[in-house]
Amino acid sequence: RTRHQIAVIPGDGIGREVVPAAISVLEAAGRRHGFELAWKEYDWSCERYARTGQMMPEDGLDQLRPSDAIFLGAVGYPGVPDHVSLWGLLLPIRRGFAQYACVRPLKLLPGVTTPLAGRAAKDIDLVVVRENNEGEYSKMGGRIYEGTDDELVIQEAVFTRRGVDRILAYAFELAGRRRGHVTSATKSNGIFHSMPFWDERFALMAARHPGVRTAQYHIDILSAHFVQHPDWFDVVVASNLFGDILSDLGAAIAGSIGVAASGNVNPERTAPSMFEPTHGSAPDIAGKGIANPVAQVWSGAMMLEHLGHPEAARDVERAIEAVLSDPATRTRDLGGRATTREVADALAQALR
Ligand code: NAD
Ligand code: IPM
Ligand code: MN
Repeated sequence: RTRHQIAVIPGDGIGREVVPAAISVLEAAGRRHGFELAWKEYDWSCERYARTGQMMPEDGLDQLRPSDAIFLGAVGYPGVPDHVSLWGLLLPIRRGFAQYACVRPLKLLPGVTTPLAGRAAKDIDLVVVRENNEGEYSKMGGRIYEGTDDELVIQEAVFTRRGVDRILAYAFELAGRRRGHVTSATKSNGIFHSMPFWDERFALMAARHPGVRTAQYHIDILSAHFVQHPDWFDVVVASNLFGDILSDLGAAIAGSIGVAASGNVNPERTAPSMFEPTHGSAPDIAGKGIANPVAQVWSGAMMLEHLGHPEAARDVERAIEAVLSDPATRTRDLGGRATTREVADALAQALR
């Protein structure tokens, strides 16, 4: 029996509820498909920070490195500033392990209502491919004359040719395996250096992939098209910040942030990839047992696929569709009354 070593970081807030729920579902998939998942849990979180002054130990990445994948809930909680918790845990893992492709599938699932009138499942089926290692998320810049009227802050965005080319290549290859269409999110009319460069690299990448059709929109109107014409999109490739925003917008049109899955992928497999939902720690509902576990479970299905179990991944997706089709096993964000645990139990049951 194949055995995979998985590092688990439940993190903060609802991460601690949806991660155990998802683990029970993935275990059921493993039993059915004859592989074993060996989970190793890490308590790295804001709570740990409050206790020790560190989100993760000094050698945190070295501890994670031998694992076959990382399964993360969410990071960030009131009481610890977000820039401390996120630059202390989440972002160093994404960067340190070259998880440069953030892959966020958005699909209108059966039983889920989109806020867009007149739209059906066939109209909303896209993947946001977000650059995950550079761009607008940067520690470059600074703040001077603090507390004076001359106070000044500068935030630098960083786009390298290597970084842009590799995410574009990933998006084109993914589109080749889907419906053969890539949209580039850009803002070259107002952002002077980085976005015209991105467009230039996009045009070159398009020329190298004659089988893939392309479109390109400025991010402002692209956001409007997401709402008015979701059916135009197959793969949408975007910079780190644009991709972040588009993925929550995409989650909203697909019904709920509670079903939005995500993978932080190192395509060359030089280090482990990390699977976590698109949503955060949801402090407003944490501890109530009502968080939707589907985003975490679906992220887990992406992990199974990455580990070489595409059939098991499909099975988990089918279980999600079956369970969401029943109003009795939908959480509150989807208009239901089921608890996190009830949804997870129904998913595990469906995989039996
Ligand atoms: P959030 O995604 O945590 O919550 C936004 C809203 O969506 C809330 O009303 C919440 O209740 C709801 N929601 C989110 N997930 C849900 C689920 N599974 N089921 C039902 N409802 C759900 O975003 P936020 O409020 O902006 O951020 C809260 C904290 O999480 C912050 O510290 C933020 O930095 C952090 N965060 C972390 C990650 C991550 O770890 N990848 C992602 C986003 C936000
Ligand atoms: C996400 C989150 C993170 C991001 C935050 C918490 C730093 O919003 O995973 O989408 O912006 O990448
Ligand atoms: Mn986000």
